[in-house]
Amino acid sequence: MFKLLYNTNTAWLDAVMNDFNAFLLDHAAAEKKASGMAMSMLSHYPDRTLLVQQMVEIAIEELAHFREVVKLLHQRNLTTGADEKDAYVNQLRQQFRKGSELYMLDRLILGGIIEARGYERFSMIAEALEAGVEKKFYQSIASSEAKHKDTFIELAKHYFDHQQVKERLDELLLIEAQITSELPIRAALH
Ligand SMILES: [Fe+2]
Ligand SMILES: [Fe+2]
Repeated sequence: MFKLLYNTNTAWLDAVMNDFNAFLLDHAAAEKKASGMAMSMLSHYPDRTLLVQQMVEIAIEELAHFREVVKLLHQRNLTTGADEKDAYVNQLRQQFRKGSELYMLDRLILGGIIEARGYERFSMIAEALEAGVEKKFYQSIASSEAKHKDTFIELAKHYFDHQQVKERLDELLLIEAQITSELPIRAALH
């Protein structure tokens, strides 16, 4: 449907594979936040029927991802940690424009872009892992995040003019590429 404008490089994948425990801890937090973000969307727009239906589905799926990552953590005798700020998400949130309609459009589009980045990176991890439970898990969440990406963009198109969605999507994709290319490389989703 759309393409990210920056491709994650192998230095990031190496950092993740070299400290998979640290990655899993960050990944767990990211899934929990994704579920919370979907709940916050449906609380903010309770009268938008389609949005509420779709967000409740996403909130449940992200929470299911969180449950699975927690299982992987516990199998490795790790415990979930305190939440840390996600510089990537925070920088993207700064792009939200004021005005209730513009704000809603930006939230939906950035939701889609964040999902697309998740899809890209989980796919890379799935590819790199040896055959086994963890590889299967990353394959399955990659396809789930790809579906979420489409859901956010389809919602944007449901509530807004298609040309307006396309123009803002193009702008935000450029910004996301810039932000992502400048993130420090670490064993974390972003
Ligand atoms: Fe997820
Ligand atoms: Fe997702």
